[in-house]
Amino acid sequence: MNRVNDRSGSRREFLKFLAASPLLAGVSRSALLEAFAQNTTASTAGAGDVIAAAKDAINVFDFEAVARKNLPPAHWGYMASGVDDDATLRANREAFAHYQIRPRRLVNATKVDLTTELFGTTWDTPIFICPVGGHKMFHPEGEIAVARAAQAKKTLQILSTVTTSSVEEVIKARGGPIWYQLYPTSSWDVRQTLVKRAEAAGCPVLVLTVDLSGGRNMETAERFRRLDTRRCDSCHEPGPNGVYARRPMFTGIDMTGVGVNAPALTWDDVKRLKDSMKMKLVIKGIETREDAELCLKYGGDGILVSNHGGRATETGRATIDALPEIAQAVGNRMPVMVDGGFRRGTDIFKALALGARAVGIGRPYVWGLSAFGQPGVEAVLDILRRELEMVMRQSGGRSVREIGAAYVTSSRR
Ligand SMILES: Cc1cc2nc3c(=O)[nH]c(=O)nc-3n(C[C@H](O)[C@H](O)[C@H](O)COP(=O)(O)O)c2cc1C
Repeated sequence: MNRVNDRSGSRREFLKFLAASPLLAGVSRSALLEAFAQNTTASTAGAGDVIAAAKDAINVFDFEAVARKNLPPAHWGYMASGVDDDATLRANREAFAHYQIRPRRLVNATKVDLTTELFGTTWDTPIFICPVGGHKMFHPEGEIAVARAAQAKKTLQILSTVTTSSVEEVIKARGGPIWYQLYPTSSWDVRQTLVKRAEAAGCPVLVLTVDLSGGRNMETAERFRRLDTRRCDSCHEPGPNGVYARRPMFTGIDMTGVGVNAPALTWDDVKRLKDSMKMKLVIKGIETREDAELCLKYGGDGILVSNHGGRATETGRATIDALPEIAQAVGNRMPVMVDGGFRRGTDIFKALALGARAVGIGRPYVWGLSAFGQPGVEAVLDILRRELEMVMRQSGGRSVREIGAAYVTSSRR
């Protein structure tokens, strides 16, 4: 067993012990935080190393430490955790250790080209900002701070359905188009209202998330919530759909009897959605070659390989492991993007080599946001870009297009 697994194995036991303990109510916040953090990250930033400014960060984990300190337990736990035993959350990180880079030498890589093309737009970098709901839970400026950072760093931003700023406000702050993510909801009419609004606001691409239709079991988040002494109902309306009352995209929409999840959704609904709009359609949450083929068949324009950052189905399979079969299935017929556990330039490089056109980050930019607002998000994007540039120079992979399968090998094969 390698060192990563060895460490996480014993920590996992500790977390299991904590989780099973009837004395959990008496477990201090710091003990639970520490156990969870050690169990799920490979961070080199310890609790004592909390940075004071974004510019002091050495790697993106430095922001995680500040976010952990800044956020109330319920918000931290909601953001950081996965589902069930957090196995998929851990798998996303641990799997990168099973892929190794094959560097080529004596290649003049003094200049590297990070640009990548998606649906006719060329982006400065293959790194994009994933949809994450409710940014104001992490920082008062929320999605606006993220949009300004995306503008400063010329980065693609995908806005969540359950954003705490409207799509119009975010586009204004971004100073350019963003993509809109859609939780389909159980109602065609609600779906259409959201789609038409995003389209009218100028979003060129709709990202349909399909991995939460069956609901989910967020146990670790619930344990953190119980440590929180604040009254949640002073901010959230009670009831399963109470959250919509405070989300601007749902203003004026009657959500009575409508759920955010759509358990009855099928590929025919995907086709109907695609035929009802002009936007390109990316399907988020695809994890198999079979579904990749169906995306092509039912009108998808692109795929985002994702397991929701380990927050949907507890498969225990990392997205970096799912990526190759999907990339091979679709070939050049549509762009394949991926997210889940990307924290290092080398992680991003490996995904590009395995067939991704672009790589999304979720928690890292939320750590930056929670830590320092806009400058924190900018610093996270800078660090990842710098790390990616470095591994491209080191390995002679000079452009996103050039980084192919020969640049990576796997101990899983
Ligand atoms: C707190 C949190 C909220 C999220 N909200 C959404 C969302 O509203 N819509 C969505 O499609 N994905 C959502 N995701 C999933 C992300 O888009 C992305 O798939 C995931 O965070 C990538 O993994 P990473 O966090 O390890 O980088 C959320 C993830 C987190 C951590």
